Amino acid sequence: MGYGPPQSASGFRLSSEMDKVPALPNAWDSFWKPGRHTAAALSGELATTHLNHWWRSEMSAIAGQFPPDGGLRAADLGCGSGVVGSIARDSLSTRNLSGAALVFVDRSPYAAGAAARSGGGTGLVADLGALPLADASTLLVLSQFGVEYAGNQGLAEAARVIAPKGVMLALIHDRDGGPALECRLNLSLFDDVLSTRILDAARDAFHLGFALDKGERVNRSVETVRADLQSRMRRFDEIIRAPNQTTAMAFLRQARRDLGIMLNRRPAYEKSDIFKWLDNIEAELIQSRDRFAAMLRASRTQADLQAFASVLPASRFDCEPITRVTMPSGQSVGWRFCLRRR
Ligand SMILES: C[S@@+](CC[C@H](N)C(=O)[O-])C[C@H]1O[C@@H](n2cnc3c(N)ncnc32)[C@H](O)[C@@H]1O
Repeated sequence: MGYGPPQSASGFRLSSEMDKVPALPNAWDSFWKPGRHTAAALSGELATTHLNHWWRSEMSAIAGQFPPDGGLRAADLGCGSGVVGSIARDSLSTRNLSGAALVFVDRSPYAAGAAARSGGGTGLVADLGALPLADASTLLVLSQFGVEYAGNQGLAEAARVIAPKGVMLALIHDRDGGPALECRLNLSLFDDVLSTRILDAARDAFHLGFALDKGERVNRSVETVRADLQSRMRRFDEIIRAPNQTTAMAFLRQARRDLGIMLNRRPAYEKSDIFKWLDNIEAELIQSRDRFAAMLRASRTQADLQAFASVLPASRFDCEPITRVTMPSGQSVGWRFCLRRR
């Protein structure tokens, strides 16, 4: 599908309201824009490989539980690049999971569209807190770091659509896990960087420099503008000197190097290119900060998940023990949350 309105997946009841679901402006949209990211969000390459392996082994265990000729329907909720749905399709295709019955759901139209194209299913642009899927319609409901972004309502919606004898398997952010720890560090890192207002000071300095190049009259003192930029850069340099090898820190260090080069070689650049670069960096900082904050809000403790499971009707749902999924180092990457519908 393209980025237009969602398509109907055979057998799912799509609300006519769906056409009105807007492509909500959110930090994830920019994250999934074409050409940017293809792998799981918020986890490094090692974690991604490890998690993909975990999903493959879960899928091969689940595959045998469904009849081979059973017209299986599956959904990947908060699909992002669609890695989990694609693993399910590969593991279950021999068991009659036809492409039309695999739905990739995400609020980001970029993500839903790209996941559907690469995963061979249907993309659905929707809010996980109000799934446009019929009650008890989906035998296999999957989510990797997705449903929890819509809070308990996201979990409730996922449970609602599980078909009789169906399964919901989700990997949920662990509030005390490694990614949440990294996220907390990154959030405070990006907040600190934004509070330096280094980009505003750089804009002032570039405006002044280009004006002076053209011999225009300026009403600001060069010394004041330079001193302001230097003090903000010193603060920025202190922040990025901290021993931290995360991707977020690597991004900040690269941005600092690029800014230094542009300040030193300003006449070699077009003014518009420099200002576009400053705007892009600022947008990246703000959107990343918002994603880190969203992830922390989404993270759950085991007690949170147990409390949610305890209010589901016991006559209809069984909740498997909620256990940590860990990296080979022993660090937790998330909770395994598995519901079965009778
Ligand atoms: C951490 S990413 C996980 C993506 C993918 N499952 C993966 O593991 O790579 C969270 C995804 O949930 C989506 N998302 C967040 N809140 C949402 C909501 N309320 N409704 C629908 N999708 C949402 C985001 O657009 C993003 O693609």
